[in-house]
Amino acid sequence: MDHLLTEQQLEVKHVIREFAEKEIRPTVAERDEKSQFPTEIIKQIADLGFMGVNTPEELGGAGMDTVTYAIVIEELSRVDPSVGVIVSVNNSLVCYPIQKFGTPDQHARYLKPLAEGKLLGAFCLTEPGVGSDAAGLTTSAVKDGDDYILTGEKAFITNGLMSDTYIIMARTDKAQKTKGISAFMVDATMPGFKRGPNEKKMGIRSSDCCMIILEECRVPAKNMLGKEGDGFKVAMTALDSGRIGIAAQAIGLAQGALEEAVKYSKIREQFGQAIAEFQATQFKLADMEMMTEAARLLNYSAARRKDSGQRFSHEAAMAKLYASDIVMKVAMEAVQIHGGNGYLKDFPVERMLRDAKVTEIYEGTSEIQRTIIARNLLNA
Ligand code: CAA
Repeated sequence: MDHLLTEQQLEVKHVIREFAEKEIRPTVAERDEKSQFPTEIIKQIADLGFMGVNTPEELGGAGMDTVTYAIVIEELSRVDPSVGVIVSVNNSLVCYPIQKFGTPDQHARYLKPLAEGKLLGAFCLTEPGVGSDAAGLTTSAVKDGDDYILTGEKAFITNGLMSDTYIIMARTDKAQKTKGISAFMVDATMPGFKRGPNEKKMGIRSSDCCMIILEECRVPAKNMLGKEGDGFKVAMTALDSGRIGIAAQAIGLAQGALEEAVKYSKIREQFGQAIAEFQATQFKLADMEMMTEAARLLNYSAARRKDSGQRFSHEAAMAKLYASDIVMKVAMEAVQIHGGNGYLKDFPVERMLRDAKVTEIYEGTSEIQRTIIARNLLNA
């Protein structure tokens, strides 16, 4: 299916698919086993220009549209969703809000090197006691001369160990909830900035994830992103874009699992014939293909709405919810088609099922996506 893609979008799809097959696939199992960050691969993706797909060219990015961005994350995640999420976080949760809310000085100091892949970025909203109710965050930011002093802990930070730059949401006004939060650009080198150890995760083990500890971390006031009190809006805007990225990650992973299932069903023989000959297998494959395509179309629709300049929170929530729902089903059926072999680490579908689960959790759980969709419907 061509999904009405442009010449440029088809070309990017081709380039990334070849790159992923040649440079990412050979090490995917080993990096999963060793929880090893794909440093060289991320450098190569930066050289291809895909650490800032939507960032305008004059600000260091590729200046491409959001469907192209979704294609990039899909194609990376078809082979390795760990690589997909590292690239998605840098693009959606870091470059996008800096582009939207940053000053020209912040664009020059942060956005350009981040989009060029000279710096890596992370996004810090969640805390040990604050997940879905993001506005309840307790990390504090207190003004001190020309600086703010940040104190608190941030949890589950993707790219946490490897990043140079962190967007950190902190409370500047205890009396207000969403309006009392501000966003700051924080460098790993700033005094009082510390990282916890790499978390031992179920899946996407080649991407890193850790706590960020702020012990009276001194951050210049000029590093505030947006105005004081804009932090919640900055975070929600970033997450709208991020959810298109995670939907693409889930779709790419579903595509990869489907392809493994098709391949295996043709070579595995039982009762004197390939299991692909059985209608029971064929019906599974047909449903897997249909769900993956439906999720892809929903995500491209959200991406096109973002590019039209309209609010796309509702569409991104639907795309992320549906894609993360179907990737669980597709990965589960891919394991089922592999039978006992699917339960072994010798076959990629075992890893794919582990990798799939997180898409229902991060960047807003499936329950939160349903809340967003229902609120939009009821308040329309
Ligand atoms: N864009 C712009 N503004 C938005 C917005 C959006 N998408 N969503 C809400 N806002 C604004 C609202 O308009 C409102 O503004 P006003 O007060 O001016 O009207 C304000 O923000 C408050 O909105 P709500 O009343 O809807 O806020 P809420 O407290 O009820 O929370 C929520 C809404 C949707 C539940 C939100 O808290 C949420 O998305 N929670 C999930 C958090 C999340 O996704 N965490 C993921 C962590 S990051 C991660 O996983 C990254 C990683 O490392 C991979």
